[in-house]
Amino acid sequence: MPVIAVVNRKGGSGKSTVAAHLAAWCARNGSAVMLGDVDRQQSTRAWLRRRDASLPTIAPWVVDQKNILRVPTGITHVVLDTPGGMHGFDLARMVMFSDAILMPVCSSAFDREAAAACHAELMTLPRVASGRCKLAAIGMRIDARTHAAQILKDWADDLKLPFLGVLRETQLYVQCLERGMTIFDLPPQRTETDMAQWEPIKNWLTPMLYPVQAANDPSPSRPLSSSRLGAPRPDSLMPPQESLVHGGRLAGSRAQQHVTVPPRTIDTAVSAFHGNASDRQQIPPFLRQRVT
Ligand SMILES: Nc1ncnc2c1ncn2[C@@H]1O[C@H](COP(=O)(O)OP(=O)(O)O)[C@@H](O)[C@H]1O
Ligand SMILES: [Mg+2]
Repeated sequence: MPVIAVVNRKGGSGKSTVAAHLAAWCARNGSAVMLGDVDRQQSTRAWLRRRDASLPTIAPWVVDQKNILRVPTGITHVVLDTPGGMHGFDLARMVMFSDAILMPVCSSAFDREAAAACHAELMTLPRVASGRCKLAAIGMRIDARTHAAQILKDWADDLKLPFLGVLRETQLYVQCLERGMTIFDLPPQRTETDMAQWEPIKNWLTPMLYPVQAANDPSPSRPLSSSRLGAPRPDSLMPPQESLVHGGRLAGSRAQQHVTVPPRTIDTAVSAFHGNASDRQQIPPFLRQRVT
C-alpha cells in the first residue's frame, strides 16, 4: 500500500491543495484511496465532506469504537496531508510510514528558507537519505514563465532535491476546493494548462503508486483510459487486504463487493506492505489522534 505524504513546515504553502489533488488523481485511476488528515485543522476532511457522491470516491480515516482514526480496510493507496510546523518525532514517525514525500514550495525567500530547513531535517532521516522514502519539491502558485520559477528550480538543484515543476496560481484551485472538487474533476477542456503542469508530478509518482503500469507503459503518466478504469487490476497490483473491505466505507468502489471483515489498522497494513513488522508495531500517536 503506497503512502504519499505532503509535507512542508510552512503553513499556506499548498499542502492540502496538493494532497486533495493527489487523492483525486488516484481515485480517478480507479484506486481505493484514503486521504488522511494528519493536520489537526482537518482541512481535507472538511473538503471530503463537501465532495459530491457522484465523483470518484476518496475515503477518509475511519473512526473505530475507541474513537481512534484508522485506515479503512480495502484501501490500496494512502495520501497524507500534514500540518505546518511538523518536525521532530512526529515528522520522523510519519516518514517511517511514507514511500514518497512531496513538498510544495512558494516562491519567496522566506518560503525557500523554511523549505530548506524542512529538507535538511528530512535528509537526516535514514529512510529519506537512503532513498527508501523519495522526496521531491513542487513550485506552488508560480507563473512558469517568470524568474520565480527559475529561482525555485535553481534552489532545488542546489539542494539536489528533485524539482517537479510548478503549479500556476489560479482561482480554479480555490473554486474547486470550495466545492469538494479538484481540477481533475473538471472537464478536460477547462484544465489543459493545469493538467500539463501535473504531468511531471504524475510521472514521478507513477512508479511508486502503479509499479506494474509503470513497468509496462513507456509513458507511465498517461491517464488511464475509461476501459482500463473498469477492468480488474492484475493480481500483482492487489495488496493482500484488497479483498477485505470493511462494510460501507468505500461506498461505490469495486472493492465493496468483497467479503466484510473487521478493519485492519495502518500498522498491520503498512507492515504487510513493507514486510518489516518488527519496527512498525506501534501506531504513531499522531495517527492515533482522537477525533475532535
Ligand atoms: N495554485 C493555486 N492557485 C491559487 N490558490 C491556491 C493555489 N494553491 C493553493 N491555493 C490557495 O492557497 C491557500 C493555502 O493553500 P493550502 O493548500 O490550504 O496550504 P497549506 O495546506 O499548506 O496550509 C488556500 O486558500 C488555497 O486555496
Ligand atoms: Mg493544510
